[in-house]
Amino acid sequence: MTTLPLLQVQGLTMRFPAAAGTPPVAVLDGLDLEVAAGESVAIVGPSGSGKSTLLHLLAGLLRPTAGSVHLAGADLAQLSADGLAALRNRTLGFVFQEHHLLPQCTVLENVLVPTLAFPCDRAGALRSARELCERAGLGDRLGHRPAMLSGGERQRAAVVRALVLEPRLVLADEPTGSLDAGNAEAIGDLLAALGRERGAALLAVTHAPALARRLGRVLELRHGRLGPGTSA
Ligand SMILES: Nc1ncnc2c1ncn2[C@@H]1O[C@H](COP(=O)(O)OP(=O)(O)OP(=O)(O)O)[C@@H](O)[C@H]1O
Ligand SMILES: [Mg+2]
Repeated sequence: MTTLPLLQVQGLTMRFPAAAGTPPVAVLDGLDLEVAAGESVAIVGPSGSGKSTLLHLLAGLLRPTAGSVHLAGADLAQLSADGLAALRNRTLGFVFQEHHLLPQCTVLENVLVPTLAFPCDRAGALRSARELCERAGLGDRLGHRPAMLSGGERQRAAVVRALVLEPRLVLADEPTGSLDAGNAEAIGDLLAALGRERGAALLAVTHAPALARRLGRVLELRHGRLGPGTSA
């Protein structure tokens, strides 16, 4: 019996419609990628090369022009909007470049947001949220709102939120992009360590050598496809 990879991407192509009379913008062009369970991969590439577009396609937040994405055995193209939302909730954690925390909610409430959408073990999720916050150095910030946190603390809360439901795959879009070197290092440590301990695979878009170094493979996105990374 062959084991399917956790994530299998074949021939992924994305063209965005452009202004009338001009050809569509081709961003991804027949991209292939496989990520095994528990594996960690850094994606680097120039600005505008399509890294964020790729992560959005992998999360089913965008539909590709052509090609397929299989996640945890499911073909994203075959799922309804509700089916996709359920798969995302059960399988994926997403760390955005800008944390996207809810300003009116505390740290603890924010990291528990993914537990609200679908039935889950709420007591277990609360325990896990508190434990992860502790690990992320946010133990004495649980009642703070995002405006009362530093940039690094906000991003750590976003990492905890992505991990709280024990996803099988964490997608992170330049999670250290807006941070200084010290904070970027801390977020890199946290993502790599917590992901590893919990057996999650990690696919992180990053320009930070400190984060890329911690991951198992570095791939570079160029001209719409992924190849071996030459630099981070
Ligand atoms: N909704 C859209 N409509 C049209 N073009 C788009 C759309 N979204 C992205 N693009 C184009 O696709 C290309 C890739 O964008 P993307 O945001 O994926 O790049 P990126 O590699 O993440 O860049 P950066 O490193 O600056 O974040 C860009 O040229 C962008 O203008
Ligand atoms: Mg981007």
